[in-house]
Amino acid sequence: MSEIEPRSAVVVGGASGIGAAIARALAADGATVTVADRNVDQAKELAAELGPTHHAAQVDVTDENSILRLFESVRAARGRVDIAVNSAGISVAGSITDLPVDKFRLVVDVCLTGAFLVIKHAARAMDDGGVIISLSSLNARQPGTGMSAYCSAKAGLAMLTEVAALELAPQGIRVNAIAPGIVMTPLTTPSMSVPGLEDDYLANTPLGRSGTPEEIADAAIYMTHASWLTGESLDLNGGAHLVKYPDLLTHFRRATA
Ligand SMILES: NC(=O)c1ccc[n+]([C@@H]2O[C@H](COP(=O)([O-])OP(=O)(O)OC[C@H]3O[C@@H](n4cnc5c(N)ncnc54)[C@H](O)[C@@H]3O)[C@@H](O)[C@H]2O)c1
Repeated sequence: MSEIEPRSAVVVGGASGIGAAIARALAADGATVTVADRNVDQAKELAAELGPTHHAAQVDVTDENSILRLFESVRAARGRVDIAVNSAGISVAGSITDLPVDKFRLVVDVCLTGAFLVIKHAARAMDDGGVIISLSSLNARQPGTGMSAYCSAKAGLAMLTEVAALELAPQGIRVNAIAPGIVMTPLTTPSMSVPGLEDDYLANTPLGRSGTPEEIADAAIYMTHASWLTGESLDLNGGAHLVKYPDLLTHFRRATA
């Protein structure tokens, strides 16, 4: 990877929350950023905020052709792809006995198969080595009631990161993941409004507070420069991985009783 030319970065799921903070941090770190998201209007707003050298693109991680087109177009426009971040993610809540299989499949499609496709096409577009970072979760290692699809997908993503790191090392591509605990974003705000749930999270977080998108972005920037780091899933959660996950279903049932 050249240290002279600006690095070309693609942030998938970059229009909102953690991905948006990573896009801002990459731009501040000197990269040229493509903000790619299903929500292209929000991606365009962020790219405009970042400045004229940054771009927006539409992508749906459940559609392989759309991911292929994204990375081909960035390589054509910038001449290279050095950094790919996959922050696209969704979650659904429901007990295993109630959850419709199409909802389970959708979460796996976005959070696991989508990450596989981003790694696949980002790696194909990286001619001169690179860095791929996925957003995993505390739920890759801590089970949560009502979160079978999300926990399964994120646990799969942790192993996918390790396999991809092994396979892509010969091409000089490092593959890592960040596994955040609770961070207030549009993804988490709805469940955090359930009475008592946020208190329960924080009681199980030794540092006693939720994280910020900017704290996750700091780790992503570190990973882009950490030239000997690959195959790592970084627990970034105020120590929550040392304690236990709140019982979400009990909170949801109490709230709707
Ligand atoms: N916020 C947290 O507490 C937290 C904790 C652990 C892990 N994570 C993970 O971090 C990542 C970012 O989450 P966030 O909290 O910033 O959520 P967010 O909802 O703010 O952002 C997610 C982005 O992904 C995009 N997206 C969703 N489906 C897509 C698709 N099919 N194709 C393309 N883009 C799509 C959305 O449009 C949105 O811009 C997710 O993978 C999430 O699972 C979040």
